Order: sequence, then C-alpha cells, then structure tokens
Amino acid sequence: MQEKIKDIHREVEGFIAKSAEEVESFRIKYLSKKGLLSGLFDDFKNIAAADRKEVGVQLNNLKNTLQDKLNNLKEQFENTQDAGKSNHDLTLPVNYIETGSRHPLSLTRAKIIEIFSRIGFTVSEGPEIEDDWHNFSALNFPEEHPARDMQDTFFIEKNPDIALRTHTSSVQIRVMETEKPPIRKLFPGRVYRNETISSRAHCFFHQVEGLYIAKDVSFADLRQVLFYFAKEMFGEDTKIRLRPSYFPFTEPSAEMDISCFLCGAKGCSFCKYSGWVEILGCGMVDPSVLENCHIDSKVYSGYAFGMGIERITNLKYQVKDIRMFSENDVRFLKQFSSVI
Ligand code: DAH
Repeated sequence: MQEKIKDIHREVEGFIAKSAEEVESFRIKYLSKKGLLSGLFDDFKNIAAADRKEVGVQLNNLKNTLQDKLNNLKEQFENTQDAGKSNHDLTLPVNYIETGSRHPLSLTRAKIIEIFSRIGFTVSEGPEIEDDWHNFSALNFPEEHPARDMQDTFFIEKNPDIALRTHTSSVQIRVMETEKPPIRKLFPGRVYRNETISSRAHCFFHQVEGLYIAKDVSFADLRQVLFYFAKEMFGEDTKIRLRPSYFPFTEPSAEMDISCFLCGAKGCSFCKYSGWVEILGCGMVDPSVLENCHIDSKVYSGYAFGMGIERITNLKYQVKDIRMFSENDVRFLKQFSSVI
C-alpha cells in the first residue's frame, strides 16, 4: 500500500494537462468514486492495526496532493474560450497602437517649405486680419478692382479698412516694410474669400507666397527656381510652361503650368486634354510696390510667386473635392498616415 501511494505521488508530480479534457481524465483516474484514491481507502480496511496510523496519514497526504493538483490544473483552463489552448497565446500580435497622422495640407506645406529651404528661403508669417493697405493698396490694386468687392472679400463689419486677407501677398508688404534686401522668404498661411463652397472652391484655403528681393534679379532666376521646385515636388520628368498673365503687383506677370503627370502630358480628363495643369501665379515685383515699401527700385529688383496648398495637394494626391480637407473625416485623413 505504501509503495502504491509513493508511485501515485511520483506519477502526478510532473503531470501537465494540455486541455480541459485531460484535466477531467485526471480527476476521473485519481479522485472519482471508482478512482485510485477511493480504491486505496477501500483497501485501508485490510491494513494491520499497527500500521494504520502511519498509512492513514500518508493516505490523507495523497488525498490533499491530488486535490491541490486538480485545483491548479482547473485554474489553468478557466476563462479560456478555446479549451484547446493555454490561457496566454504569446504568438498573437500585440494591440496595434493607433497614432495620429499629419493633415495632408500640413504635409504639402512642409514639403514646399523643405524644397525652398534647400535654396536659402526662410519662413515668415503675417496676420490673417489685414488692413486695406497691406492686402490691396500697397500691392497696386486700383480702387475699383473687383477683388476689393464685397463679393470677394470678407470685411469686418462697420470698418471697410479691415478685412480677412484674400491672399498671402499681403505678407510681402509687411516684410519689405520692415526688412532690408536681400530678402529670400516664404509666407505660408490661411486666406479667405467670400465664395460659394463647392468641390472646387471654399471660403478659406491656404497659400504659400515666395519673395526674393536683391540686386540684379531677373525673370530667368524666377523661371529657374520654379522649374527646380516643380521637379522636386512632382518628379524629375516634370516640364513647366509660363503663360503671360496679369497681377497688379507684378510686371511682367505669368501663370505657371506643369506637364500633366497623370497622362505624361498626352492629354487626359484630369488636364482637360491639354497636357498641362496650372499650379501658380508669379512675376517680377512691380517697381511701384518696392517703392511703396521704401525699397529703392533703381537698386533692387525681385520676383514673387504664390500657390494654393489645396491645389498642389489635389494634384499630388488626386483629391477631387476640396471640402474633404476641412471635414475631419478620419477615413480620408488616415490615407495620408504613411506619407512622409
Ligand atoms: N496673390 C495671387 C492670388 O492669390 C497669387 C500670386 C500671383 C502671388 C502672382 C504672387 C504673384 O506673388 O507674383 O491669386
């Protein structure tokens, strides 16, 4: 009997169950009514009186050991949905930590700044609430220019001199009034126009303005810098085209197109079958604008350019509806999480 007890101790000591079924088999084998322990208790009657005390203790020990072991095994398989696996599956992937992503307009803004900073441009900002002088007059907008109209500009009630800036060109004036040439700067920021909101227009959007004022600046310098920008932004094969245009504050003025990178300039619905898409306005700063800022136009000349960040982003990522940028729809914004 004592030998048997020792054998069972040894047997169960290292026992490991791989499933809840094996735990149940363990219980049946050792602790059920017809199990081994019960059999030993039955045999106990036949033990000689002299040995009873000692064997009794050993039997009780065995009983406790078996009961403890069963409890431990059961605990292991409790709360496990899948009875075939242990409690912790270390091969499962860890919980994915969702990080935020940068807004597509911020990404484009940062990219534009990064490209121009490589050739010496630094960043300045100006106020969004602007006076007539900085937004219009100093930039040569004549008194009757349609851009000054109530339809285009948000004026502050009761004060026609104060408005939400309609473009970042106003920052050109602020910087030229306070800084001496050479000036090589970018002015990113939000601008406002009193437009009906649609997929192509919004009452606020973003621009980046560029300004370079120094001695002997030529239109060729402007063209070269914009060509460099277009290639860095849209790819090595990008071509540019400058079309004559008009802006009150530049003379001569131009609008710049880039070759359509979707169809390789062959013509598609995106470029309206022209092979070209418009991306910015530019020109040589009008001498009278320099004079308005007390910069001697006989000594200094310069160029300026201005582009819409929404426009560049639309082109780069083929966003069809400008309203997506201000709706905060996570399904839209998430798509930019891998863009650096
Ligand atoms: N301010 C113009 C606009 O909002 C864009 C622009 C055109 C800026 C020509 C410039 C420029 O600096 O030279 O449409």
